[in-house]
Amino acid sequence: MTQRTLVLLKPDAVRRHLIGEIIGRIERKAGWSVTALEMRTLDRAILEQHYAEHIGRPFYEPLVEFMSSGPVVAMVVEGERVIEGVRQLAGPTDPIAAAPGSIRGDYGTIVRENLIHASDSEESAIREMKIFFPGLS
Ligand code: PPS
Repeated sequence: MTQRTLVLLKPDAVRRHLIGEIIGRIERKAGWSVTALEMRTLDRAILEQHYAEHIGRPFYEPLVEFMSSGPVVAMVVEGERVIEGVRQLAGPTDPIAAAPGSIRGDYGTIVRENLIHASDSEESAIREMKIFFPGLS
């Protein structure tokens, strides 16, 4: 089942020089490819769209502040069962709960600074890809 997913390398990943390490892990997975990529600093307007379902939750403001604190790398990753697969590679939201071998388990520190976002379903992937790569068919 070939799928596409939206991945963001968060500002902590960029600041800590982990872009290559994380993309390397994704690219080493057989059959997965990065098919679109852009580095940019996100403003509140795009974050409001991306995190619309979380508006009003206690972590929303800290999340937006952190996500706009520096550039992110936005990517589309394509491949076999890639939606579930990248989330597995990332590990759980809270790095403390993430197993060694996962990105958050190996490099994560606190829940706010958890290095990577990956779409959680096919529906989210389509919605999020449209936000970050509107020109993509
Ligand atoms: S939920 O309830 O399962 O929908 O939420 P969850 O997937 O765990 O988290 C949604 C996104 O919010 C981020 N998050 C936080 N950011 C800052 N501070 C705190 N305390 C916090 N808790 C959760 C979390 O990393 C998720 O961001 P993305 O970009 O989707 O990974």
